[in-house]
Amino acid sequence: MADQPLLNTYGRLPIVFDHGQGPWLYDEDGNRYLDTFCGIAVTGLGHAHPAVTQAIQEQAARLMHCSNLFHSTTQQTLARKLCDISGMDGVFFANSGAEANECAIKLARLYGHNRGIHSPAIIVMDRSFHGRTLATLTATGNRRVQAGFEPLVSGFVRAPFNDLDAFDAIARSNPNVVAVLVEPVQGEGGVNVADPIWLQGIREVCDHHGWLMMLDEIQTGNGRSGHHFAYQAYGVTPDVVTLAKGLGNGFPIGACLARGDAARTFQPGHHGSTFGGNPLACAAAMAVIETLEKDNLLARARSLAERMRSRLEAAFDGADYVRDIRGLGLMIGIELTSPCAELVPLAKTQGLLLNVTADRVIRLLPPLTLTDDEADTMIDQVIRILRLYAGDDRDLPRHGQPQPPKTP
Ligand SMILES: Cc1ncc(COP(=O)(O)O)c(C=O)c1O
Repeated sequence: MADQPLLNTYGRLPIVFDHGQGPWLYDEDGNRYLDTFCGIAVTGLGHAHPAVTQAIQEQAARLMHCSNLFHSTTQQTLARKLCDISGMDGVFFANSGAEANECAIKLARLYGHNRGIHSPAIIVMDRSFHGRTLATLTATGNRRVQAGFEPLVSGFVRAPFNDLDAFDAIARSNPNVVAVLVEPVQGEGGVNVADPIWLQGIREVCDHHGWLMMLDEIQTGNGRSGHHFAYQAYGVTPDVVTLAKGLGNGFPIGACLARGDAARTFQPGHHGSTFGGNPLACAAAMAVIETLEKDNLLARARSLAERMRSRLEAAFDGADYVRDIRGLGLMIGIELTSPCAELVPLAKTQGLLLNVTADRVIRLLPPLTLTDDEADTMIDQVIRILRLYAGDDRDLPRHGQPQPPKTP
């Protein structure tokens, strides 16, 4: 596996996956693994969801691509649906999260220029993650993502997360600011949940100055928070929202949604994408949203989150190696007191796929379609592996002993 002709951009675990079903992934030898993070918040409906597969198959047989020089019913239907569920007025379709954010950044700059601000700036947060293109890695609040790619893009001002006083101070001292870009829950940054007072305060400051409040919901959107979009849990409405990841359940699609003046900013020629919003991607995304609604998965995500969080809290109550358990909906972070990257290969030997971010935060992003039994099995496995790792020999949870990956 080591000599694959791939550029060396990822440290990959030595597993070759062949297929998936619901929360399970199967390797070439038929061993199955329980997937706790959905390909980083992508397969929210589980792997190989029949409604998405069927939509892709039917659309592929009819029309995959016609370019944005023409209309397509599938694209229009999805755009209308996204506006209905988000309260936005218009959509630009892209192919990934970084591209959706690039669109938001360009939109904010143009919005500023239209108001006579010729060197517009966007406030971004410490510990944020917005993508790997030059503008989005500059917006990202993590030096490791930026190092070696200087010169970075100008026009970003950094602020601490969840600090309204610091935000107010920046607002008072930066006449070039035109917008703010925030994740309601910082995923890569360690599952850091925005304080409602802070997010509502940002909304007020934006209203006061005429800035765009732009939310990166690439990880939090598409039902993961227990709402279509996390801002719906906060009682604020942004001017711009970016989506990707779970929107296509694995089929690449990104979107930048805007309302009001923001939605009227772009004119023909300002932005574009050859593939963005092609009928195939739009059919997949439409099937995702229809399934979220038909199967009542937003409410289900909230009740699953409650079930999983409370079991974790009970299991690690008083454990000196766990600093915090936090999250929003089915985005759950377990912060340890020390770095824990070795948990990932350990979990693999037990048939569990785990993600660790920000050095010491186990990030659970399970599918919204888990049965109660699957959710319990997943939590039992997480508890067991974490206790094994920490040398905590309290009773193991009730779903049996550690097991290696097994053939179905
Ligand atoms: C909040 C957020 N924004 C943007 C991105 C970038 O998305 P993509 O990898 O699809 O470009 C990610 C990816 O992890 C993300 O979590």
